[in-house]
Amino acid sequence: MGQPPVIYGQSSRPPRGDYARAGADYTCTQNYAAYTEAEHALYQRLYARQEALLPGRASQQFITMLAQLGARERIPRFADINAHLQAATGWQIVGVPGLIPEEPFFALLAQRKFPVTDWLRRPEEFDYIVEPDLFHDLFGHVPLLLHPVFADYVQRYGEGGLKAMRLGAGEMLARLYWYTIEFGLIREDGALRAYGAGILSSPGELEYSVSSPAPQRRPLELARTMRTRYQIDSYQRTYFVIDSFEQLFTLTAPDFTPLYAQLRGLPAFSADATDAA
Ligand code: PHE
Ligand code: FE
Repeated sequence: MGQPPVIYGQSSRPPRGDYARAGADYTCTQNYAAYTEAEHALYQRLYARQEALLPGRASQQFITMLAQLGARERIPRFADINAHLQAATGWQIVGVPGLIPEEPFFALLAQRKFPVTDWLRRPEEFDYIVEPDLFHDLFGHVPLLLHPVFADYVQRYGEGGLKAMRLGAGEMLARLYWYTIEFGLIREDGALRAYGAGILSSPGELEYSVSSPAPQRRPLELARTMRTRYQIDSYQRTYFVIDSFEQLFTLTAPDFTPLYAQLRGLPAFSADATDAA
C-alpha cells in the first residue's frame, strides 16, 4: 500500500523517496541488496570525515555511544543495529522513504521506533543535503538512543507530539524538537558540546555551533524555545543549551497543556531575536 509523498517546507521539488513502498504507518523494508558498492563507499567517507570532527565538539556521551554502535565501514543492516539497540534501551529503527507526516512520526516515536530514511545522498551532496538521508538519520540520531535518559526523552516527545496535535500546539512542540533533538547543545565538564543530530551530521555546523561568536546561545527554557522560529536552510542563529539529559527530561516532564494555553496568543521570536521571553 503506497502513501502520498511528503514535501519538506515550501519546496516544489519532487520528494526523493519512493512512497509507494510505504505501509500505513509509513515504514518500509530496507532494501539492503539495492545499495551499490559506490553507496557503501560514500557512506564510509561520510562517516570517517564526520567522526574525525567529533572530538572537542560533539558530546562525549554521543562519541562513546557512536563507537558502541559500530557501522562505520558500510551501510548497516537495520536488523543488525536493532539487535544492539533493542537490548540496550528497547528502541528499534524502522525504514522510511523520507520525511513522514507528523502524526505517524509521533506515533512511531511513542512506540520507541525511530524512522530512518533508507536511501543515501548523492556524491555531489557530500557536504550538504536539504532533506534528511540515511547518514543524517543513522549517524546523527541513533547513537543517543542508546542513552537511557535521552531514549526516554524521545519516546515522551512522541507521546507529547500526539497530544500537541490534539491541542493544536504542533508548531510549538516542533520548535522544541528542532532546538533539542536536532540542534541542541549541552554543557559537559564546563565545555559546550553538540548533541543535536542536525549538528552532528553536518561538517560545517559542528564547528560553528560550539565555536563561532556569531550565534546566540541561551539556556533551554520551554517558553522561549517554543516561541522561537527556526531556519531550515542555514546554520542556526540561536542555540539552546542544556546541562544534562536528566535536566532535559525533568524540564519537559510536566504536562504542557497550561503552557500551550499561555503561549498560544503570544508572538513568536525570530530565529535571531535576542530578547528574553
Ligand atoms: N510533557 C509534555 C506534555 O505534557 C510531553 C513532552 C515530553 C514533550 C518530552 C516533549 C518532550 O505535553
Ligand atoms: Fe533529523
